[in-house]
Amino acid sequence: FILRPFLDPVPPLPGLYTSFGFSILAFLAVLYLVPAVKSNFVKANLYGKDLLKIYDDLIPESQGVVCAAVYILTLVCFIPFAFSDAFVSTKTKPEGISINEFPLYRLSVYLSSILSILIAAILGFLDDVFDIRWRHKLPIPIIASIPLLMVYFAERGNTNVVVPLPLRFMLGSLVNLGPLYYVYISLLSTFSTNGINILAGINASEVGQALIIALSVIVNDLLYLPFPIDFRIPVHLLGSQMEVEVGGVWSAGMSYGSRELVERHLFSLYFMMPLVAVCLGFIYHNWYPARAFPGDTLCYFTGMTFAVVGIQAHYSKTLLLFFLPQVFNFLLSCPQLFGLVPCPRHRIPRFDRDTNLLHPSKAKFITPPSGLTTFVIRVFSALGLVKMTTDPKTGSILEVTNLTILNFFLVRLGPMTEKRLVQVLMCSQFAGSILAFVVRYGLASIVYDG
Ligand code: UD1
Ligand code: MG
Repeated sequence: FILRPFLDPVPPLPGLYTSFGFSILAFLAVLYLVPAVKSNFVKANLYGKDLLKIYDDLIPESQGVVCAAVYILTLVCFIPFAFSDAFVSTKTKPEGISINEFPLYRLSVYLSSILSILIAAILGFLDDVFDIRWRHKLPIPIIASIPLLMVYFAERGNTNVVVPLPLRFMLGSLVNLGPLYYVYISLLSTFSTNGINILAGINASEVGQALIIALSVIVNDLLYLPFPIDFRIPVHLLGSQMEVEVGGVWSAGMSYGSRELVERHLFSLYFMMPLVAVCLGFIYHNWYPARAFPGDTLCYFTGMTFAVVGIQAHYSKTLLLFFLPQVFNFLLSCPQLFGLVPCPRHRIPRFDRDTNLLHPSKAKFITPPSGLTTFVIRVFSALGLVKMTTDPKTGSILEVTNLTILNFFLVRLGPMTEKRLVQVLMCSQFAGSILAFVVRYGLASIVYDG
């Protein structure tokens, strides 16, 4: 094997390195600012008690607003660098007049994305301050996604979906969803924000999920970028000489000649790298035992950021695959979210002060549940998702473990410490991402061609 690196003409990626530099600054800023502003938050009554600890210390709440502020400022300062190529790519007309082909459409995508994230952060912060009831806050992300939808529309956004091979005989290869596509987009942002917010309650759970999803998105984006240096390895194999291309091959079978594809994934990276940075800075303070709480602000702005990149970089289906634990948690939660099963203010696990272990918490039925509720809980119980207690005389359900993935882990794996539970959660998020890559790049070719 002879390793022979040589520089091939590949598109330059200077913005990427600048974004990486900005991300390091964002990481350091969050790392420093979160403890520095702690007392200001407590003075402003923005604090909470850690429900799963023996001590009653006041923990500053909504510190996701520090992350959101640093994140949005980073994106704003980065704007000129994201468009640095436009400063140099001038064309000279024959008469000698220089015209600059500024990519105005790309700029509007960038600015509308920042606006959507900003609205989500503000509304999340209002929720932290006024504790809006969850039913009322469900539509918040829909409002935040309006700028996004408008820019998508302005692009004459593609509202076609590719039909899976087995259904093509009925529907053809493309189906135009029209206005339904916009409904799908706004529901995606509702899901990504609330999906993170309802998988919460133990230290580092919210920011831990966001971190792993962001890292998964980054890996996915890198698959579409050309390497700055293209290595070719000439291999002497069975006497014949062949060249193996590393880099091009790595691009997930996509031709990296597609400038548009590269630009979309660069855009996604510009939003994801600073997100990883602020999440890393914050998880340091939010890790067990937490010295800061994220509040709904963090859940809303991170969730909205994922929706923004998924939509604008056109990979919303792949993005949903990275949300497997959140999809599971949402489906499991539906009977509580939609009123079939009582939903207490907090569905977090029950803390045993003597052993320092977490047990599944329970929802109690004050009146006997309806036929539909009984059926649903019995199905969940038969699937091993919940544990229920029934009245020995009447057989009616008295209580059931709260319908969240955290309680599900405790039902299946037994009581454990909070730190262990968050590790289990993060491992499941990681395993979900691995599965997502297998489905996206392995199994997708079975149901989709090309
Ligand atoms: C969501 C969940 C709720 C869960 C709560 C925990 C639904 C419908 N709602 O509500 O069941 O109990 O998140 O965040 O599923 N806290 C801790 N330790 C932590 C994080 C939070 O004890 O690591 C507590 C603190 O008291 C903190 C409070 O949770 O003040 C924050 O709750 P909040 O984010 O306002 O709850 P929701 O998002 O409304
Ligand atoms: Mg919350």
